Amino acid sequence: MGAGTEPAEAQCDSLEGRIYLDYNATTPLAPEVSQAVWDAMCQAWGNPSSSHPAGSKAKELIGSARQSLANMLGGRPEDIVFTSGGTEANNMVIHTACRHFHDSQRGTGNSQGIPHIVTSSVEHDSIRLPLEQLGKEGLAEATFVPVSPRSGQAEVDDVLAAIQPNTCLVSLMLANNETGVIMPVAELSQRVCALNRRRAAQGLPRILVHTDAAQMIGKGRVDVQELGVDYLTIVGHKFHGPRIGALYIRSPGTATPLHPMLFGGGQERSFRPGTENTPMIAGLGQAAELVNKNWEAYEAHMRDVRDYLEATLEASFGKQRIRFNSHFKGSKRLCNTCNFSILGPGLQGRRVLAHCKVLLASVGAACHSDKGDRPSPVLLSCGVPPEVAQNALRLSVGRGTTRADVDRAVQDLVQAVEQLERDQAP
Ligand SMILES: Cc1ncc(COP(=O)(O)O)c(C=O)c1O
Repeated sequence: MGAGTEPAEAQCDSLEGRIYLDYNATTPLAPEVSQAVWDAMCQAWGNPSSSHPAGSKAKELIGSARQSLANMLGGRPEDIVFTSGGTEANNMVIHTACRHFHDSQRGTGNSQGIPHIVTSSVEHDSIRLPLEQLGKEGLAEATFVPVSPRSGQAEVDDVLAAIQPNTCLVSLMLANNETGVIMPVAELSQRVCALNRRRAAQGLPRILVHTDAAQMIGKGRVDVQELGVDYLTIVGHKFHGPRIGALYIRSPGTATPLHPMLFGGGQERSFRPGTENTPMIAGLGQAAELVNKNWEAYEAHMRDVRDYLEATLEASFGKQRIRFNSHFKGSKRLCNTCNFSILGPGLQGRRVLAHCKVLLASVGAACHSDKGDRPSPVLLSCGVPPEVAQNALRLSVGRGTTRADVDRAVQDLVQAVEQLERDQAP
């Protein structure tokens, strides 16, 4: 293999004829991305901190990836910090908010106790669990605002009502990974910004605003100026990039606080030290370039295929037997996500999938796949009845999914359900 000319031979999308409809769990590398990773491995292996040409080449690649990410979000390259993934980026925001709270108390003479963070009841575990852990340790308190069963969204008024004098962070995901419901983040930022002006006059800590955009990037418009957030989480493997991530911070260290969780060699301006993973960063930059150029076409294609999927499900099972769990009147949702239940006894999502021969999908978040037949807490908090939620399936289509793939997947589901019903017949 010619060094730096071809990527590794592995076929990223080879699934031996199976139909992959689990793009919210992860996506394969785009060919352009694997090429960029390979090229960087071969040609930019120098330490980016070295001052000789091998180092400069790597540094240059990292700089251009940073620029691509900034372009994708409407931010500036200096507002991007590379991380190992979304989990780290989310933890870093929470860690920063707690430090910011204590810094804001120093020397004021009025103590507000421990930091308080407001989030929703449907966030990813990389938000929920660190907050629960801080709560157990008595280091912070959190309010998990329930989503409205009418909209599937955390309503702005409910989030604002949860704010206390010691609140230092509001974190609301941009789109939910299970339902695909898009949250009102721009409106929330505006309202918090106005509130912060009043709080400053009262000597209360500024409330930072974070959104986890893991599921939205590559599937819809993501612009940090429109969103008005202080922090935004980026997850490469959700948009055909490598398994690293980044955090957008509006002017880190000046307009917006950012406190490192790791200490070391000073990389990423000491916000996230450790020798940079140049090939993966180059791949992430390439993935961002693809999104920049094509996101509208990706979105239109996925929406078309997802709508076709929903129509085909209804036509195949009958309107009475299908319940779409993420159709909320007035709420926008991701273009690629279809969460539904096939109604009937013994048709738990996990059992149906186990009887599928070609379809690869999931019943909810991949990180909950070990939770047995328990219905998804996200669906329950959206008001889906438990007996419906336990039959839920999440099918998420991708850039390359076709209507023919959908036909095969639905046919597979029909056969799986027929088999299960035959097995149950007395
Ligand atoms: C909404 C959301 N946030 C965060 C993450 C975590 O990202 P990572 O897998 O890079 O740690 C995921 C991935 O599953 C996600 O769906």
